Amino acid sequence: MTSGTSGTTNIVACLALVFTLFMNSSVANPTRAETDVEQRVSDLLAQMTLAEKIGQMAQVNVGDSYIHDYLAEGVRGGRVGSVLNVVDPDIVNELQRIAVEESRLGIPLLVGRDVIHGFKTVMPIPLGQAATWNPDMVREGAHVAAYEAATTGVNWTFAPMIDISRDPRWGRIAESLGEDPHLASVLGAAMVQGYQGDDLAAIGTIAATAKHFAGYGASESGRDYSTTNIPENELRNVYLPPFRAAIEAGVASLMTSFSDLDGVPATANEFLLRQVLRDEWDFDGLVVSDWDSIRQLQIHGLTANDRESAVEAIRAGVDMEMHGDAYLNHLESLIEDGKIDADFVDQAAGNILRVKFRLGLFERPYTDRAILPPIGSEHALATARRAALQSVVMLTNEHHVLPLDAGSLESIALIGPLADAPYEQLGTWIFDGDPSMSVTPRQAIESLVGDDIEVSYVRAMKTSRTRTTDGFAAAVAAAGDADAVVLFLGEESILSGEAHSRADISLPGAQAELVRQIRATGKPVVAVIQAGRPLTLTNIVDNVDAILFAWHPGTMGGPAIADLLFGIASPSGKLPATFPRMVGQVPIYYNQKNTGKPPTPDTIAHIDDIDPHAPQLSLGMTAFHLDAGYTPLFPFGHGLSYASFEYENLRLSTTELNLGESLTVSVELLNTSPIAAHEVVQLYVRDLVGNVTRPVKELKGFRRIYLEPEERVTVEFELHTDDLAFYGRDMRLITEPGEFHVWVGSSSETDLMTGFRIVGPD
Ligand code: BGC
Repeated sequence: MTSGTSGTTNIVACLALVFTLFMNSSVANPTRAETDVEQRVSDLLAQMTLAEKIGQMAQVNVGDSYIHDYLAEGVRGGRVGSVLNVVDPDIVNELQRIAVEESRLGIPLLVGRDVIHGFKTVMPIPLGQAATWNPDMVREGAHVAAYEAATTGVNWTFAPMIDISRDPRWGRIAESLGEDPHLASVLGAAMVQGYQGDDLAAIGTIAATAKHFAGYGASESGRDYSTTNIPENELRNVYLPPFRAAIEAGVASLMTSFSDLDGVPATANEFLLRQVLRDEWDFDGLVVSDWDSIRQLQIHGLTANDRESAVEAIRAGVDMEMHGDAYLNHLESLIEDGKIDADFVDQAAGNILRVKFRLGLFERPYTDRAILPPIGSEHALATARRAALQSVVMLTNEHHVLPLDAGSLESIALIGPLADAPYEQLGTWIFDGDPSMSVTPRQAIESLVGDDIEVSYVRAMKTSRTRTTDGFAAAVAAAGDADAVVLFLGEESILSGEAHSRADISLPGAQAELVRQIRATGKPVVAVIQAGRPLTLTNIVDNVDAILFAWHPGTMGGPAIADLLFGIASPSGKLPATFPRMVGQVPIYYNQKNTGKPPTPDTIAHIDDIDPHAPQLSLGMTAFHLDAGYTPLFPFGHGLSYASFEYENLRLSTTELNLGESLTVSVELLNTSPIAAHEVVQLYVRDLVGNVTRPVKELKGFRRIYLEPEERVTVEFELHTDDLAFYGRDMRLITEPGEFHVWVGSSSETDLMTGFRIVGPD
């Protein structure tokens, strides 16, 4: 074992020197030119042995609080290019010191970590952040995550996760930015910018990873790791655009997906990793496998052993192997035996070194806490609070029961397993999140109302999954004694995330029964639901007066929820994914195809109304479910406000334009209420006729606008014909002349519509 403290004096001296040099050089010479980077990559490659190049391609899991001898030896011997899961700055600095001072070529390490939605200060889960529809917010959240993580020496995160997710059963929908390619593209790019800043080499920025390339979100039946079958046209039009956007935003790396795409697992998928990524998109960053996913090619049944797996992965274009040794054990002999070309290794090592140079690691391999904001800074907590505030979606608000009127309430009952659960509100993928920093809804409400309102709290259920109703009597009694009830329902964080899929996505345990019993008290009932996915809420929606859907809102979820409950701020989140009525509707998403038999309200029948011996053709021969209809419970883009908004005068600058031109879509938005609030204005388009069938609506723009009471603003969107491009039958990107419909409004179900025509060459 090598002690993590050896060489401490050296490191301190070195840090001081490096920091002085860095600060001076960063002022005089902010970034090294890309040509310089290319030169440095090729100079370094020219000095490296084959074994050292292969060493760069290995990422080793550390996980422990000390440095194992084998790890120190590996780093010293140039057999490790990256480590992951080490967040002790002393250990990281010592590993870097060994790499820089004791390995032959002094190549620093990439230090990877899943910093998915915050480090110690936790932002809402990514799906919640997507509900803000606010790229600035998302960028800021990632920026905070980056500088907190950077204090430990982490220089590379495995985020953003931009898998299009149309299946709420899939536990990893929590980590995603939702179902829509445009929203996920804009927010994913913002997240990349937040982690990486303008200059990857600047202090406090870390390299981002767009993952999982590609199609992981389409896992069959929402079961994690399951097979995906995505036709190439759908892959290109739906699943790939966010990755393209992340690359345009400068993302440093991509991670392959665990999933099997149309028979070829993503980690061996040459079409994805070479043809699309390198040839079509010119990506020059690094591609890392997912955890052990090279060796898993054998388990998939694609290869017979690790050696064959190494061949498949390197040929496909995986540069670095995360936690596995197929590359380390086999690449050298595969080259010697002439089974693979040495160029593959040169390319892979070059891609890895390029990222290291871009990160400025050769100039500044060490971290120094003192030069970064402290963990949980005022800025970090304020960002987390604002993100949580904007992420909450008000799904219903019957009779304007919300906001609660603090002036007229004497008592309030807080009931449920998630009212005071500091860990659970952080959500999934929180390795470093600190629950002791969480402010829970109960704490925040108590501190907000002080002595003015009597607050009672009954947990009622041990967990969200508790089936017994033993705790309900106390909850009903508390509700009976209170002027209003807030139920804190949902799922704990463990119920979503990787490998945590559910087949039944209703509120678990006896929660629906708790709702029924509380409803029977006759008191106003508000449900605040924290969850990692859209849930089917059909069995509770009519038994509560209002629903605030808060996702897993992170460290500052409590104050955000309290502010919304009492009207200090208005809800402004909008759904980034469709909420089904029942799980059998899944996948259900707004940008579906029309089909040849689209349903309309007057063509559907309901199972309860079918007469005995009803003739086959009597029920409406259209695309609907007899028991669920064809609409969701809450559509994509939905989210209510305490203010009321009207949309008027939807106008286009022209109704006819040529390919290559733009038009301006404008709408007047009026706040007809005395309440100041944000509204997210959404622009949708339909291309009526296409070379391949086009979705019934596609989001093409959105803007979060703040309106004072009674304020009227004109909102404009620029729409270029390139924004209407799609992949056609020959898999080429085209924009076709023809008719288009345009909608603007407050959700994907808006009906404020107009249209235009693109005229093209005859
Ligand atoms: C996940 C990745 C993650 C990696 C490292 C894998 O199991 O699929 O998303 O980045 O582990 O923790």
